[in-house]
Amino acid sequence: MSLTAIVRGCGAYLPEKILTNEDLSKTVDTSDAWIRERTGIRERHIAADGEYTSDLAVKAAQEALQSAGMEASDIDLIVVATTTPDLTFPSTAAIVQAKLGAGIGAAFDIQAVCTGFVYAISTVEKFLTSGQHKRALLIGAETFSRILDWTDRATCVLFGDGAGAFVLEAQDTAAAAGRGVMNSYLRCDGRQVDLLHVDGGVSSTQTTGHVRMQGNKVFREAVLRISEAMQRVIEEAGIKVTDIDWFVPHQANERIIKGVVKKLDLRTDQVISTISGQGNTSAASIPLAYCAGVADGRIKKGDLVLLEAMGGGLTWGAALMRV
Ligand code: ACO
Repeated sequence: MSLTAIVRGCGAYLPEKILTNEDLSKTVDTSDAWIRERTGIRERHIAADGEYTSDLAVKAAQEALQSAGMEASDIDLIVVATTTPDLTFPSTAAIVQAKLGAGIGAAFDIQAVCTGFVYAISTVEKFLTSGQHKRALLIGAETFSRILDWTDRATCVLFGDGAGAFVLEAQDTAAAAGRGVMNSYLRCDGRQVDLLHVDGGVSSTQTTGHVRMQGNKVFREAVLRISEAMQRVIEEAGIKVTDIDWFVPHQANERIIKGVVKKLDLRTDQVISTISGQGNTSAASIPLAYCAGVADGRIKKGDLVLLEAMGGGLTWGAALMRV
């Protein structure tokens, strides 16, 4: 029997504390006008002291399970895309499994920075369509605020904390009637590590380190690579850009999103954007935006949705699914 991985539910969680551009302008030499004009960001959420990536992930996962009409015990695979794990080991997915009370299926993390959720969708789809697992929780969760240099105005204004989750289920392809993950495309160019990285780590410095970025170079690469990935998934799936209902991009910068929309000839009213109120939440940004689109009734069952992301590595990719 041929299997397809379909999205059964989604969930989102943002920490209570909000940090506005005005707040930031009191601690670094920046302004609300500069940040909004260059990025589209107005404010972002910041995890409370003692609130970990796994806590954010669990809240998003619980909402996703509820929307799927499932219990944690129905899940036999948990994948967490994160760059900001609670601990060096075990994986955040293992901690989430225990906090959810999800039994003893498989659990692991994926590290592809801002592209993590796209890498996770592509990976989980293969686990489900192979028949190895039946129901997966796929979570993007970050406490990016913990790896920011709060004196570096070029990076600290861009990011925020949050989590989003999907429940994916393996279904008989015939019964899925065209729904499901249709195609994905993943790439990495490790030679470009200097453009965007964290200057610390377990093996190198035994410190956590801080985000370092050559912003304008990343910007140029982002528009180019993301457009290439989107065109590739569209072509390989044998569809046209005009078939796409919703574009759910990684929320890094409004100007990157506009550049990609223009390049692909998409319409701006097809874009689900959460950047102004959330900033860049790395691996969490795609499921957070997707859930916003579902919650306000824009994304409906049967719609064709295109996802994309680029992040440290450099990594980039895109995925296409009928929901
Ligand atoms: N407030 C005020 N001025 C600032 C700030 C700030 N927060 N940050 C930088 N500047 C200054 C710079 O110091 C520079 O000043 P100078 O001309 O006196 O030297 C000036 O603004 C212009 O700096 P640029 O870096 O050239 O500004 P740019 O227009 O490229 O915007 C930005 C910077 C917003 C970071 C942009 O390059 C960008 O969005 N890049 C993409 C990076 C990104 O999104 N990374 C996230 C991870 S990767 C991903 O998710 C795709």
